[in-house]
Amino acid sequence: MSSSEYNVFQLKVGGFDDNFSYLITAENGDSIIIDPCGDTGIIKTAFKRRKKLNPRYILLTHSHQDHISGIKAVQKFFDAEVYAHPKTAWHGAQPLSDHQKLPFGKGYIEVIFTPGHTRDCVCYRLHDNSALFTGDTLFIDWCGYCNAFEMYETMRKIIFPMADSNIVYSGHDYGRVPYATLGEEKLKNPYLNAASFAEFKEALKNL
Ligand SMILES: [Fe+2]
Repeated sequence: MSSSEYNVFQLKVGGFDDNFSYLITAENGDSIIIDPCGDTGIIKTAFKRRKKLNPRYILLTHSHQDHISGIKAVQKFFDAEVYAHPKTAWHGAQPLSDHQKLPFGKGYIEVIFTPGHTRDCVCYRLHDNSALFTGDTLFIDWCGYCNAFEMYETMRKIIFPMADSNIVYSGHDYGRVPYATLGEEKLKNPYLNAASFAEFKEALKNL
């Protein structure tokens, strides 16, 4: 991460089920919050601790209640609009499009539609391949409850081809570690590295 212009703060906000929220900052002060939820006081403290941050976006990985419960509380100190998949259940969100590049710092954060856990699931990738925010699509060594075929296609065709250097930051603290590189997950995550739909379905029996 040291070579990246971005800093990622993985916030253990508790919430419904060991949820994570994220604060991402760029060298120029641009900042993003992903999935505001749980104890929003923790998010506020992380934000206030860094000076001169410029709120750019509140991004949702999907609209399950445990990921969006803190939106209104966060908007009181983080003056940014909410962005989400067009099928989001959060009224008033700005609709994103697949592969949209949201300007952020000197580069951008890319929007990647990843159906499977829900129809409105989105992952977000920092342009320098330093981080991938996966919500309930990809956990460390697991994947989210899902429509099997949609999730298999997402894993195989969308996530697996991404660069190994991306650190996977998921929506819940479910893994042996809170985060790991995508390269490591390609080796260890049976949902990500299933080579066929049959193999993926077999792995789902353990979910
Ligand atoms: Fe979810």
